[in-house]
Amino acid sequence: MSRSSFTTNSASPENSTEPEVDAGIEQTRRTLLLGALASTACLGCSPPARAGEDPPGSDERPQKGDVLVFSEGDKEGKLITAADVPAGGPPVHAWPKDPNTSVVRSASRLNEILIIKLDPAELDEKTRARAVDGIIAYSAICSHAGCPVTAWVKSDVGDKEVFKCMCHNSEYDPRAGAQVVFGPAPRRLAALPLALADGSLNVAGNFIGKVGGAQPG
Ligand code: FES
Repeated sequence: MSRSSFTTNSASPENSTEPEVDAGIEQTRRTLLLGALASTACLGCSPPARAGEDPPGSDERPQKGDVLVFSEGDKEGKLITAADVPAGGPPVHAWPKDPNTSVVRSASRLNEILIIKLDPAELDEKTRARAVDGIIAYSAICSHAGCPVTAWVKSDVGDKEVFKCMCHNSEYDPRAGAQVVFGPAPRRLAALPLALADGSLNVAGNFIGKVGGAQPG
């Protein structure tokens, strides 16, 4: 209602208390009706994420068909293509992202992934079977006490570079399914099968192996 129509009505000599009450009731009815319609229209809608809350799906483990995005650096959040992964390392750190909802699954630190490209001839048979063009992916979470595996350095026990967790110096060889080659880690890093679609890397299946640390840090 415009400001002028309000003025006209309230100034009218015919105005008594009763019409104002009627108008108020009518207004309330209309408000209730609109509220009911709005509620009905939203039946079946997923509840919107409240400010500060993680969106649905953001803490789910990587799913088949997820794309991968950078989890750090200048390109954080950008799609990772095969060309973004340097041959011979260092690894690229990534999050899985649902391509349908655009939700990045970064609400759980257990979802962080290491992606590395190595010479396929260096990979053992099982690792080669999971790789695309020598590109392989593993959980970035150390199996010892759950620290992030951050380093790509020459091994303490060989002359090749390996993934290293700096918390207690566990080392993993990505050429051999990320088996432990040094340190207290009790088991290999979980592996994530990959596929390639139009140059972009996709998740081809669930993590193989347990993700996370065996003991609290
Ligand atoms: S948490 Fe990685 S070596 Fe202990």
